[in-house]
Amino acid sequence: MKVTVVGAGAVGATCADNIARAALCQELVLLDIKEGLAEGKAQDMMQTAALLGFDTRITGSTNDYSKTAGSSVVVITSGIPRKPGMTREELIGTNAGIVKGVCENILKYSPDAIIIVISNPMDTMTYLALQSTGLPKNRIIGMGGTLDSARFKYQLSQHLGCSPADLNAVVVGGHGDTTMIPLIRLATWNSAPVTGFLSADQQKQIVADTMVGGATLTKLIGTSAWYAPGAAGAALVESIVRDEKKLFTCCVSLNGEYGQKDICLGVPVIIGKSGWEKILDFELNEDEKALFSKSAEAVRAMNDVLKTL
Ligand code: 2OP
Repeated sequence: MKVTVVGAGAVGATCADNIARAALCQELVLLDIKEGLAEGKAQDMMQTAALLGFDTRITGSTNDYSKTAGSSVVVITSGIPRKPGMTREELIGTNAGIVKGVCENILKYSPDAIIIVISNPMDTMTYLALQSTGLPKNRIIGMGGTLDSARFKYQLSQHLGCSPADLNAVVVGGHGDTTMIPLIRLATWNSAPVTGFLSADQQKQIVADTMVGGATLTKLIGTSAWYAPGAAGAALVESIVRDEKKLFTCCVSLNGEYGQKDICLGVPVIIGKSGWEKILDFELNEDEKALFSKSAEAVRAMNDVLKTL
């Protein structure tokens, strides 16, 4: 099994590190356009193998896609990250060209790859990857909701004083500060509804803090976060390569589900060896449906920008 991570910046390298530590594949290629960066980080990670005891072979490549040939899964993290005060949407002009080029190069050498998109604005980059490659929709997966749901569980755990691992909670909709929808009504703490343990104010706070989870970190760190985004990408790789059929919220192409068509948006999906295999069409209440439609409108407006580039 071979996996490629495109982009050896903080998110890509962290994703690769998680993939190697869990020995999810025999061969792992890290690729970047910056001379020597991917080779250097790959070598640094390989030097942890003796300490951590994994046997994945990690190699780096400066923009030579032939090295990625035969990859089963490719994670795309390329593009510029956001700076404090920037929205993910502001990255569209620069990142669209990058993501389109990466997809073309990847498919030249790995025509059967499943593609995981992390680059921002993630919903539009996922839509672009689907449109520009013409791949079957199940092979294009946007990572955003997986990360947002992990952040939602973190926020809930802080208020509940519990382990995030004991929580079931999903964020659907777009991966934007105003487009994501943390479904607190449906969140449970080992099957007990969390709403029974939280005041209305706490619930509001948790939802608000989840929605600006990425922006809060960008402000603190000075650039986009990487530990949770990298781990979220690796968790999806794991579910694919081990055919785990785990349920994650991912940005996928909708064809009538949740009342939407011709758009990629975050919904709960089963992830297995064929990519995303099934959408779980949750029954949303009227308020949630309205939020989902609003989120779709905003993402659609962003997708329209692609036509002007
Ligand atoms: C984030 O929310 C990178 O979009 C990613 O941190």
